[in-house]
Amino acid sequence: MTYPNSGSGLRGWTLFLLMSLLVLLFATTTMLLHTELVEALRSAIRVTARTSFALFLLTFLASSLVTLVPTNGTKALLRERRFLGLAFAFSHLVHGILILTYAQLFPETFWAGRTPAANIPGSTGYLFILLLTITSFPVMVRLLGFRTWKWLHSTGTWVIAAIFCLSFYKRLPLHPWYLIGFSIMVSAIVLKLTAKTAIRARKSSQAGVL
Ligand code: HEM
Repeated sequence: MTYPNSGSGLRGWTLFLLMSLLVLLFATTTMLLHTELVEALRSAIRVTARTSFALFLLTFLASSLVTLVPTNGTKALLRERRFLGLAFAFSHLVHGILILTYAQLFPETFWAGRTPAANIPGSTGYLFILLLTITSFPVMVRLLGFRTWKWLHSTGTWVIAAIFCLSFYKRLPLHPWYLIGFSIMVSAIVLKLTAKTAIRARKSSQAGVL
């Protein structure tokens, strides 16, 4: 279902461009605030993970929010979900480029306490981000067929949500922020499951009436 004329004027590729420019602005500003390159890179990696998190949450919750709170705002969020999803992918592209630069320039710091196996969840996340990005265009929905497309986007979204949970969980001892990040992601998952239950209940009650 699409909502053509609801919500604010910021939409489509303009919205994508603005969000992407904001990601670059936050990453660049963060790097300029540090004198040591290694700390500049690490803090920019953290900042781009956080911009990714914010953008991902909006796409993850869009349909649930319309189900639970159908307002012009939530309908506009659902209408723009694709462009927010692409902005999330861009933010994580920057996260990836910064990580590769950090690993290249400071291999001893990057690999300190990190095993190759520790990169498996993150790499799986990037594989799904790539697949979801490539298939975020109407021609790909037609090529794949709606059922396969829906399965890929639903599975990919839940895998990425799980990786955000894991990324915050494994950093819990480092800073109270990670408990906040972890709690927000878990609350978002609960909200999404609540919306799914509400839809199912609504459908079965409608089936009961008919
Ligand atoms: C192989 C792929 C990946 C690698 C090597 C990687 C590496 C890193 C590194 C080194 C940091 C911390 C920087 C620091 O504090 O020094 C970081 C932070 C983070 N990454 Fe990634 N990452 C990867 C993929 C992902 C993916 C796919 C996600 C989410 C879907 C993600 C989410 C996060 C989060 C949430 C943080 C914490 C940000 C914060 O401090 O608030 N990462 N990553």
